[in-house]
Amino acid sequence: MTDTPPLPNYWEYLRLPRLLDLQAGLETDERHVSPDELHFIVVHQVFELWFKLLLNELRLAREHLARDMVPEHDIPHVVHHLGRVNEVLKQAVGHFSLVETLSPQDFLAFRDRLFGASGFQSVQMREIEILLGLEDVRRLAALGEDAGTAVGALERHASQEPGGPWVVERLSKARAELTLKGALERWLFRTPIDASTTERDDDRERVGAFTDAFLAAYERHHRETLRVLGTRGASVNVLESRLEQGLAAARTFLRAEDAAPDDDRWRLQRARAGLLFIECYRELPLLSWPRRLVDRIVELEEQLLLWRFRHARLVERIIGRRPGTGGSAGVDYLDRTTKHRIFTDLWTVRTLLLPREALPPLENAAYYEYALWR
Ligand code: HEM
Repeated sequence: MTDTPPLPNYWEYLRLPRLLDLQAGLETDERHVSPDELHFIVVHQVFELWFKLLLNELRLAREHLARDMVPEHDIPHVVHHLGRVNEVLKQAVGHFSLVETLSPQDFLAFRDRLFGASGFQSVQMREIEILLGLEDVRRLAALGEDAGTAVGALERHASQEPGGPWVVERLSKARAELTLKGALERWLFRTPIDASTTERDDDRERVGAFTDAFLAAYERHHRETLRVLGTRGASVNVLESRLEQGLAAARTFLRAEDAAPDDDRWRLQRARAGLLFIECYRELPLLSWPRRLVDRIVELEEQLLLWRFRHARLVERIIGRRPGTGGSAGVDYLDRTTKHRIFTDLWTVRTLLLPREALPPLENAAYYEYALWR
């Protein structure tokens, strides 16, 4: 006779006895925690659970995308995981209104006891940033001195704290992983551009021809707009100099002239051309999933910025502009974090886009039709 496992029940499956016994904060007994502080602890724990889910889904999306060859039927999986990430982030942004049921005085009643502890030390938030691809140099550029407090000091601080090795280990593991941004660039690099693939010997020339044709169309379109505005009596001098600047910026971007010395300029150039191609010809059937993928990542970054902005306003509403319990300047610091951008190319390309009728025609549009025999 085989042993059949007992049927599960709800409270054991969800480990509720353990879960519901974790809200005592600094007390040994939850009965000594005020209702406001209990609310504060529960809401924070819920956020951390959302962060856990975000990390999981981001890693799944990244794993699909990081493969040397991403089969077309795998792109919907990436889109699915990123869609879930975005929904979770939207919920998390909405949760700040729960925190705002605390009045400033409600919070001040227990705030002083929290000194030393801060969301600054949320290792999962740092993992999310690292996994997405927020680079330390960008952090530094946006945050100045506070950047050191944000990540480096978390590692140093954690190494001297109880439970610290857990933090240090998680951060170093995240640092060793391929980022979502890195995986996305690899994938964009391989985008067939007007049917030219990276395996072709003449790929560089063909990608160059696509980029040149686009830049010519860009210039033509904007000069025509200027001409029409001029005929309507607009003063075009300022607009003309903006056009020249825009054109120069478009060339720099598409030819990757801004690549750092240790960047592979060709890889960057081709990845950007791939991105531009997907965005320009997004209605072609085989680009429909790739464009959704790009849209999801733009949405993700937007949600993360909204999260940062929303958190900063909540903080301003509850504690004003005083320094944080983690030792930063408080709201001033948090507002500077709203400048963080990770997927910068995905935003830049939007400045370049043209109306459909102004786009250069493709030679091989048929390549992007659905084909049952492929
Ligand atoms: C009364 C409510 C809250 C106040 C007054 C508050 C205040 C602050 C302040 C002042 C900082 C800057 C670091 C410091 O010096 O401490 C900070 C950072 C942070 N807080 Fe909050 N916070 C609140 C609620 C929350 C909630 C509900 C979460 C959700 C997990 C959260 C997550 C974070 C994170 C992740 C950071 C680091 C941000 C970064 O460095 O980019 N906070 N918080």
